[in-house]
Amino acid sequence: MEKRDKIYEGKAKILYTTDDPNLIIQYFKDDATAFNAAKRGTIAQKGVMNNQISTKIFEFLKEEGIPTHYEKTLSDREMLVKKVDIVPVEVIIRNVAAGSLCRSLGIEEGKELSCSILEFCYKEDKLNDPLINEYHIRALGLATDEEVETIKKYTFKINELMTRFFNSLNIDLIDFKLEFGRFEGQIILADEISPDTCRLWESGTGRKLDKDRFRKDLGNIEEAYQEVLNRVSK
Ligand code: TMP
Repeated sequence: MEKRDKIYEGKAKILYTTDDPNLIIQYFKDDATAFNAAKRGTIAQKGVMNNQISTKIFEFLKEEGIPTHYEKTLSDREMLVKKVDIVPVEVIIRNVAAGSLCRSLGIEEGKELSCSILEFCYKEDKLNDPLINEYHIRALGLATDEEVETIKKYTFKINELMTRFFNSLNIDLIDFKLEFGRFEGQIILADEISPDTCRLWESGTGRKLDKDRFRKDLGNIEEAYQEVLNRVSK
């Protein structure tokens, strides 16, 4: 697959066209940002680790019947994916209270929630990805009602599947963020799933194995990502 022109550079990845108009390459960088890029840094080998971790998770979800943009892993930092039209909505599931939920509602980190919370955010960096609901999505025409229903159905199914997947690795899935895109008229899972986009706590000890180590300057960031990679590779 021939890599051609850069089409987009985000905070953690770069997208390139290929000789197939339906496929693009996502290149995983070591750059890390938090709080809408107010905090910047790099995590050594993060791109390599996230590419491999995302590969494992996409392969697992594909086997379980979730349609994804994942095609093939091309190299240590490059993944071949379907070229989708991204729905500009970030979809978050929270199983345990952490992060912005604690800040906005005054809840203690680690509090068990009596049901999982699904949130939508408008994917617009200059507005700081504000929290929205299904009425905003409809009113702004970000996705059709049918697409929203499909996105919710896949997201809850992915939560069930990933919770089970990580539990088998002795990791609790606290929360995560997904992005979906349109490909040939269908909604499919896109972007990446990695310790950048999930909160992962070691079962029993509560040790944080995700980007919160960077956000909160907890140290041993590379080791945490490596630990997740080791466990998903077993
Ligand atoms: P939050 O608690 O900061 O709102 O984050 C919820 C989840 O979403 C957490 O697993 C981290 C992930 N996330 C992203 O992947 N990208 C983002 O830009 C943000 C803010 C959160």
